[in-house]
Amino acid sequence: MGIRHLPRGHKALQSPRLYEVLAQEGQPGPRGGYHPPMFSYRHAFHAGNHADVLKHLVLIAALRHLIQKPAPLMAVDTHAGAGIYRLDGEQAETSGEAQDGIFKLVAAAAGGLADPAPALADYLEVVGSFNRAGQPRVYPGSPFVIQRLLRAEARDKLKLFEMHPTDSKALAAHVAQLEAGRQVSVARQDGFESLKALLPPPQRRALVLIDPSYEIKSDYTKVSACLQDSLKRFATGSYLVWYPIIPRPEAHELPRRLKTLANQAGKPWLHATLSIGQRDEAPDPQLPGDAPHRPGLTASGVFMINPPHTLKAALAAALPQLLQVLGRGRGKGQALESGG
Ligand SMILES: C[S@@+](CC[C@H](N)C(=O)[O-])C[C@H]1O[C@@H](n2cnc3c(N)ncnc32)[C@H](O)[C@@H]1O
Repeated sequence: MGIRHLPRGHKALQSPRLYEVLAQEGQPGPRGGYHPPMFSYRHAFHAGNHADVLKHLVLIAALRHLIQKPAPLMAVDTHAGAGIYRLDGEQAETSGEAQDGIFKLVAAAAGGLADPAPALADYLEVVGSFNRAGQPRVYPGSPFVIQRLLRAEARDKLKLFEMHPTDSKALAAHVAQLEAGRQVSVARQDGFESLKALLPPPQRRALVLIDPSYEIKSDYTKVSACLQDSLKRFATGSYLVWYPIIPRPEAHELPRRLKTLANQAGKPWLHATLSIGQRDEAPDPQLPGDAPHRPGLTASGVFMINPPHTLKAALAAALPQLLQVLGRGRGKGQALESGG
């Protein structure tokens, strides 16, 4: 894979806010799990992990289809994070999560992953477009992924919401550096609540990414309530939800609830899961953060209501390859189901 890079001197690469200020501030531990106290979640610890790979691959494949129509699109990222992350920064290196995600994929692509599926190749190309050739040093979060695909000429819009005091400032600073003008807006507001005022969009076409940190149990019920409300306001929007697959009843329940919601609304849905399984092999002392008993998330899912009709076939080709490269041991697997 040819990894390109942000132009030399690009402000995003020089930003003290992204690469230095975050590292200087008091950081919570990266292994707080998915239900630590509110706002201890920082996506920088997880950027480029297997869950980001799944989510961003699906996001890109869906957007690619949506931007084929000339009519403008509104994209909303209700839980945006900081926007872009350094993979060689303190946080990413501490957790080492990208090692089991984007780094493995890039190595596989460079080492001759035979015939990557178009959606996988496209994902690698988008991540690569933020990096110079070789090992990626920067990982684009969903705001930068989406913005990279949106069309200025079609007047597509991107609405970003992030509540974390530090990450919302970082996000605003990173977005300012894109110089995207009125195409992108950032607000430090509750994404679940703020979505209401945006639906239905004037464009009458929307992709909504709902990607909470699930720090608190109520996030699960908020996701389904948000979907239910959004479908009432704008039934033809495309809604993409990410969720962790962890041994908690709320996490198991969420995809079931979303299926019920979509079926009741008479809308098609697509559900993809990827589990990289347990870490069987001995830890590599050379890898940063490769601790022997690092618990970490091993599986996650994405649920999309009103997916583009091309998405299922795209994922059917890409998911087995993701598993082939990222799968580790006991419990690994992938699944794709659809309905409606
Ligand atoms: C999983 S991260 C987002 C990652 C990002 N979507 C990506 O793919 O790059 C979830 C983010 O939601 C933020 N957050 C938590 N509750 C929120 C809320 N009610 N509204 C908006 N953002 C929230 C957290 O601070 C965290 O940065």
